[in-house]
Amino acid sequence: EKGGWATYMDKEIHEQPHAVADTLLGRTDESGRLVLDEIRTTEERLRQVDRITFVACGTAAYAGMVAKYAIEHWTRIPVEVSLAHEFRYCDPIVDGNTLVVSISQSGETMDTLMAVKHARELGAMTLSICNTHGSTIPRESDAVLYTHAGPEIAVASTKAFLAQITACYVLGLYLAQLRGETYADDAKAVMHELQGIPEKIEELLGRMDRVVEMADFMADSRAVLFLGRNVGYPVALEGALKLKELAYIHAEGFAAGELKHGPIALIEPGQPVFVVVPGPDTPHDLHKKVVSNIQEIRARGARTLVIAHDGDEDVEPFASEVIRIPQCSPMLAPLLAVVPLQVFALHLASAKGLDVDQPRNLAKSVTVE
Ligand code: BG6
Repeated sequence: EKGGWATYMDKEIHEQPHAVADTLLGRTDESGRLVLDEIRTTEERLRQVDRITFVACGTAAYAGMVAKYAIEHWTRIPVEVSLAHEFRYCDPIVDGNTLVVSISQSGETMDTLMAVKHARELGAMTLSICNTHGSTIPRESDAVLYTHAGPEIAVASTKAFLAQITACYVLGLYLAQLRGETYADDAKAVMHELQGIPEKIEELLGRMDRVVEMADFMADSRAVLFLGRNVGYPVALEGALKLKELAYIHAEGFAAGELKHGPIALIEPGQPVFVVVPGPDTPHDLHKKVVSNIQEIRARGARTLVIAHDGDEDVEPFASEVIRIPQCSPMLAPLLAVVPLQVFALHLASAKGLDVDQPRNLAKSVTVE
């Protein structure tokens, strides 16, 4: 049932174009406007939302972090992200106009479920982004937006993550549309671009030979660092998490701007560092800033493994390796940039002879607090 793939994880990585496309399916009418029929709540109710808090664990929480940047940018609604187990016991500030959005592949994660129940008790409106129909978390929530990634078997989440990010974008664009005309045009345009992303993921998956080679010869790495900025920051965190989970390598993700406030002390000759570079048209000169981070660590001897858009020549002088992703607008880049990091972790773990689908000490769904 692995359909010719050596592992479920490999199979699921290659199902990502479908996971994204299926999660977008049926969300727009002929004119390109978003329609969320299944959401189980009303436009009136959603128009009242003046604050959003995401609650989730692990990879799902990183999807929430991507969502924060995107939804604040598109709607100007303030968004927070809390680890579900922290939210539950931190005396959170929510009221009837707060939308608490949980993200869970399984829909059974106890920490996330407890956070949702707590949010409801406090009077918040709850919405579940979930991959498993009829599971507990969507049943306990006021509203639901299903991801359509299909069953995910490998413990380490891949296609569910891309589907979660996609669903978060859909939610954000829908809220933007509800806010009226100026936002609605943007929503249509982004939705249109989003529909072209599955094809780009497919293309990207066809270019992973060099990443697989890199993973093979890096099997003895003791520590790997990941840097990213803006939506690239959660991508860096997810790249590090995948490597911990699968390859049992000490891996850490940092916001690139933090480098000079501490992590740069870790850089010594030969230290591998992945850098997720924002596209050249990212606002606030972020592209230039990240390129100069690469220059700084390269000067200290780091092996710079750079994930950059096609055509971005600025990274070349400072990169030990350049991994190219297809061009896309800045907010949507996580759907592409994370893919080489998943492939890298999978192949490094395989090179070490580890069980990729069932890493030690982990469970697919953690149903205890
Ligand atoms: C962890 C899994 O225990 O739970 C992660 O190992 C997952 O892969 C996290 O991201 C959250 O799970 P779920 O089902 O709530 O998305």
